[in-house]
Amino acid sequence: MTPKSQEHALLFFYLEAGVDEAIDEITHDRYGEGASRPIARAQPAAPARAPVSPRTADIFAAEVEGSYSVVAGAETIDELGNAVSAFEGCGLKQTATTTVIGDGNPEAAIMLIGEAPGAEEDRQGLPFVGPAGRLLDRMLAAIGLDRTKVYITNILPWRPPGNRSPTPEEVAICLPFVERQIEIVDPELLILVGGISAKAILGRVEGITKLRGKWFTYSTPRAARSITTTAIFHPAYLLRQSALKRQAWQDLLAIRDRFGGKI
Ligand code: URA
Repeated sequence: MTPKSQEHALLFFYLEAGVDEAIDEITHDRYGEGASRPIARAQPAAPARAPVSPRTADIFAAEVEGSYSVVAGAETIDELGNAVSAFEGCGLKQTATTTVIGDGNPEAAIMLIGEAPGAEEDRQGLPFVGPAGRLLDRMLAAIGLDRTKVYITNILPWRPPGNRSPTPEEVAICLPFVERQIEIVDPELLILVGGISAKAILGRVEGITKLRGKWFTYSTPRAARSITTTAIFHPAYLLRQSALKRQAWQDLLAIRDRFGGKI
């Protein structure tokens, strides 16, 4: 595409750089704003992350408990969806268009958990319906699965602006929503799609390259039953790193071998 004007060229540049939405109608002069502040070099070096005071930790724990309590009484995915849609305790909701809960069969024996809605998911209100979702559908089809045989959700029900990675606080606030969905669906196999999901659910620090292709057991903090769990590469990652598709295929075959009867 050839830019037709200076404005068009600027928009084109933004698009190439990954900017795909406007989050404010007013133009902010960030450089001008900075000029009136003392320059950063004159400040003593700040710690990488402000220490969390016991009071902040208490407030945060209360927020997480609050997000659990809004879904604790939900007995169906519809009830949970209504409760999460009415929840105002996560800032991501302000910039998202829709609350994306889940798709597929809530009675299924297999449940997949991705990271967060992207642009297309945010528009349609359904998980995994953009380019990564189309690849996920093909991956599932390769082992005889489709959305009538699995239930699909995400760690976060709201799209982070510009598809940025979620913060640990956002993950912690939204985790009770996923945990309650796991309790409602009560699957026999959990497939964690990508590193953010694997780390959040398994409470591990390793990346997806270390966690994929292994078998774990998982139980929600409030349910005793343990569920066989595994992790796979995220399809968005596979779209960028096609050399990893071989390992992804091995992981799918391992799932089919172990859960053939359910497929
Ligand atoms: N990536 C995810 O992790 N989830 C979606 O729903 C879409 C893309």
